[in-house]
Amino acid sequence: MDLSLKNYQDYLEVYKFSVEQPEEFWSDIAYTFSWKQPWEKVLNWDFKEANIEWFKGAKLNLSYNCLDRHLAESGNKTAFIFEPNDTNAETRKISYYELHEMVCRFANVLKANGVKKGDRICIYLPMIPEAIVAMLACARVGAVHSVVFAGFSAQSISDRVNDSDCSLIITSDGAVRGDKKIELKKIVDEALVSCPSIKKCIVFNSKNWEVNMIAGRDVWWHSEIKKVDSHNEPEWMDAEDPLFILYTSGSTGKPKGVLHTCGGYMVMVGYSFKTVFNYQPHQIFWCTADIGWVTGHSYIAFGPTLNGATSVLYEGVPAWPDAGRYWNIIDKHQVNIFYTSPTVIRSLMAFGDTFLEGKNLSSLEVLGTVGEPINEEAWFWYHDRIGKEHCPIVDTWWQTETGATMMTPIAGLGVAKPGYAMYPMPGIQLMLVNEKGDEIFGNGVEGNLCVKFPWPSMARTVYGDHKRFQQTYFSTYKNLYFTGDGCKRDEEGFYRITGRVDDVINVSGHRIGTGEVEDAINDHECIIESAVVGFPHDIKGQALYAFVICDKKVDDLEKFKIEVGKIVSERIGPFARPDKIQIVRALPKTRSGKIMRRILRKIAEGEISNLGDVTTLIDPTVVEEIKKEAL
Ligand code: WT7
Repeated sequence: MDLSLKNYQDYLEVYKFSVEQPEEFWSDIAYTFSWKQPWEKVLNWDFKEANIEWFKGAKLNLSYNCLDRHLAESGNKTAFIFEPNDTNAETRKISYYELHEMVCRFANVLKANGVKKGDRICIYLPMIPEAIVAMLACARVGAVHSVVFAGFSAQSISDRVNDSDCSLIITSDGAVRGDKKIELKKIVDEALVSCPSIKKCIVFNSKNWEVNMIAGRDVWWHSEIKKVDSHNEPEWMDAEDPLFILYTSGSTGKPKGVLHTCGGYMVMVGYSFKTVFNYQPHQIFWCTADIGWVTGHSYIAFGPTLNGATSVLYEGVPAWPDAGRYWNIIDKHQVNIFYTSPTVIRSLMAFGDTFLEGKNLSSLEVLGTVGEPINEEAWFWYHDRIGKEHCPIVDTWWQTETGATMMTPIAGLGVAKPGYAMYPMPGIQLMLVNEKGDEIFGNGVEGNLCVKFPWPSMARTVYGDHKRFQQTYFSTYKNLYFTGDGCKRDEEGFYRITGRVDDVINVSGHRIGTGEVEDAINDHECIIESAVVGFPHDIKGQALYAFVICDKKVDDLEKFKIEVGKIVSERIGPFARPDKIQIVRALPKTRSGKIMRRILRKIAEGEISNLGDVTTLIDPTVVEEIKKEAL
C-alpha cells in the first residue's frame, strides 16, 4: 500500500490500514531503513506483564542508519549548522562526511577507554555538536547513553549515574547560555565524589576554562581523538538491545530511567520526523529543545539524521542578547521548519512584536510545538506573526515514554484547530477511559488518555525496575498503556490534551514530580512537611506552589524562601524552584492521612469559592486558614 500522505483522505486510509494490519504497516515502514539482518517476528506483546518486542531477531546499528547510509549520495550535505551562543562567533557547518568521521573517531575513543556493548554512559554536555557526536558514538559501539540535562545539579547527576551504574561520563569544561556561565566539569567533579561506578571522564574543551583533571580518571576529548583512527565498524545490535536511558519524573519516588531499544525507536522516530513535519530533502529544520530532554534525542540527534536532513543546533537561550535572537537565526539560516515549545512562544510574544521587525521569516513553511498544551493566544500569535498565516502548526503530543510523536495535525494535510493535537499518527491506537477503565465512546467526551496497542518506539522498561514500569503504565487500566494525561474528544472526533491527571507538573515543558520537590524542600531545617502543587502561569504554563509546615519560627520570611529555593536548585536544578511558598500550620488531610491535593490545587489557582467536599478532612478549619493566607 502507498503510505504517503498527500491529503487528509490519504491519512484516513493509511490510518485504517495501520490499525487493521499493524504488523504489515510497521514492517512496510521498517523496510525503508538499513538492517544487517531482517526480523523473525514483527511484534510480540503482553501489556499485562509489560513485555513488548518489535522486530525481534533483526540486527541493525542506529548510527549506521543516521550516517553511513547517506554518505554515498549526500555525504557533502550539511547535517548540522551550529549556531554558537556568542553572536560574534562563527557558525560551524558539519557535513554528513564530517559528522561520520567525528562519530567514528569518538566511537574508537570510547572503545579505547574500555567501553563495551551494553555499558551505560552518562552524557552531561551543553548544546554543542560534540553532544550529538557523543550520542551517536554510543549508539555506534552499542553503549547505552543516559543524557543528563546540563541544568541538573551535581546531586541529580550522581543519582542518575548510580541508578544505572554508568562506567564513563562525558562532559565539557563548561557552558555559556546567554550571559550565564556554567562550570560543568566542576559540577561533575562534585557529583563523582559519590559515583563509585565511574572509571573514566572524558572532557571536551569547549571554552578554554581551567578545570581540575584527575589523573587516571579524567582525559581530554581532543587528545584522545588524536590517538585513534577514523575507521570504525559499527556494533550490530539486536533490535531489542537497549539504546538509551532517559530519566523522567513521575508522580512518586525518584526519577525513572525510561529505557528505549534500538530497532523500534529508529523506525518510529525516523518515520515520524518525515511524516509529522512533511519534511522535504532541501529543507532546513530547527528544533530548539535541549538534548537533555527526549525531544532533543528524537528530533535533533536521531530523527533528522535518520532522514539525512540539515538541522540547526543552537547553543544559547531564546531571549539573548535580545528577544529577537530566534528570529535572527531563522532569517540567517533560512529555516524552513521550526519546532519549539509553547513556553518559548509565550515568553517571546511577551516581549512584543518590535523584535520581529526587520527579520525575514519568509523561509518558514511548517511550525511545530511540543511539551505542553498551547493556549489560543499563543497559537494565534505563532500562526499569524511567525508563520504569516500560511504555515501549518503541528501541535505534537507525546512523552519521554512514547519516544516519538503520537498525536498531531500532520503538516500539509490541512486539518487543524488551535490547541488541538487533533488525531493519532498512523499506527497509534488511542482510547479514552473513565475512572473505572471503561472505554468512553462517541464524540464530545472527555476522559483519561490510554493507548491500547503497542507502537515501535514505546519504552520497554524502567531501568533496573521492570515492576515499576508495569505498575506505572500498565496497572491503572487493564491491558492499556496509561499516559497520565487527561484528554477531550470534541464533537468532530478531534483530540485536545487537557493536562496531567497525576501529580506531575509541567513547568515550561519540563516535567517535574511534586514528590521530588517535596523531598528536597523537606530537607530545610525548619520544614517538617510540605505539599507542592501546580498553578497556571502566564509564561511557564504552570509553576510550583509549595505549602510548608515549619517546626521552628521563621523570622525572616524572604531569607527563608531563598533558602528553600536554593535547596531545590541544589537537589534537582534551578528550573524546579517553586514560585510561591506559603507557611501553613497544617495540611488538609483525610482521616487516612492522605493530603487532599485537590483543595491545595484550587487554592493555588485562586479558585477559593468552590472547594468541593471538605467533610472527610480531619480538620476542615485548616482549609479556611490556608485560604486566608494564600499568596
Ligand atoms: C507530557 C510529557 C513530548 C516531549 C516533551 C515532553 C505534556 C507533551 C504536549 C502537547 C499538550 C503535551 C503531556 C505529556 N505534553 N506534548 N502537544 N500538548 N501536552 O516530554 O517530559 O515526557 O512530558 O508533556 O502532559 O504527558 P515529557
